[in-house]
Amino acid sequence: MSLLTRPAFAANALPQLVDALVEKGWFVGEGFLDAELCHELHRELMEMAERDALAAAGIGRGDEHQLRRDIRGDAIRWLDRESLAQRRYLEAMGELQRELNQALFLGLFEYEAHFAHYPPGAFYKKHLDSFRGRANRVVSTVGYLNPGWPADGGGEMAIFAADEPEREVARVRPEAGNFACFLAETVPHEVLPTRLPRASIAGWFRRNASLGGLVDPAR
Ligand code: OGA
Ligand code: MN
Repeated sequence: MSLLTRPAFAANALPQLVDALVEKGWFVGEGFLDAELCHELHRELMEMAERDALAAAGIGRGDEHQLRRDIRGDAIRWLDRESLAQRRYLEAMGELQRELNQALFLGLFEYEAHFAHYPPGAFYKKHLDSFRGRANRVVSTVGYLNPGWPADGGGEMAIFAADEPEREVARVRPEAGNFACFLAETVPHEVLPTRLPRASIAGWFRRNASLGGLVDPAR
């Protein structure tokens, strides 16, 4: 089967994902993403890293954007539908968006995602993906692309309780196929230092970007 006809993710896991978001604010699925799709996306990202097509990632949006290597050390590139694999991934996230809107009335209307490459030693300190009250990122997704990630590879994403930010509730290995989804405004998370080059796709469902007179910069 080609990339076009294989399901991009385990659709029977969607009800579980929705229940987990409602109950705890986060979901982790192992083997959630299609292996062939992950393989293609991984190849694409590694090629970008090799030809220097990635940009150092910063923190803050718009005018507040700044580079802080003491906070995050990854290099990124926004998905722009330039390959079949990217289109397939974005289409799958569109399916997830429809499911979330139907089940939870979240009114999500836009999705943005970037490839992220963490070189050995890189990390991303504990953070939230959105600021309360701003009409921006509502639900976060992270898809992992690294085949055969060793037990001592590091680079796990630690998830913390929304109401108790010091309490770790889950750790996600960046193994290809693994997928995490959580509420962007309330669930703290962090990328532990990686020992090996680490590939992921971080993405966000957004609400209308310019509500309440606050214009939200696109990225
Ligand atoms: C992010 C992020 C987690 C990961 O980019 O905001 O938290 O595991 N990424 O790549
Ligand atoms: Mn994050």
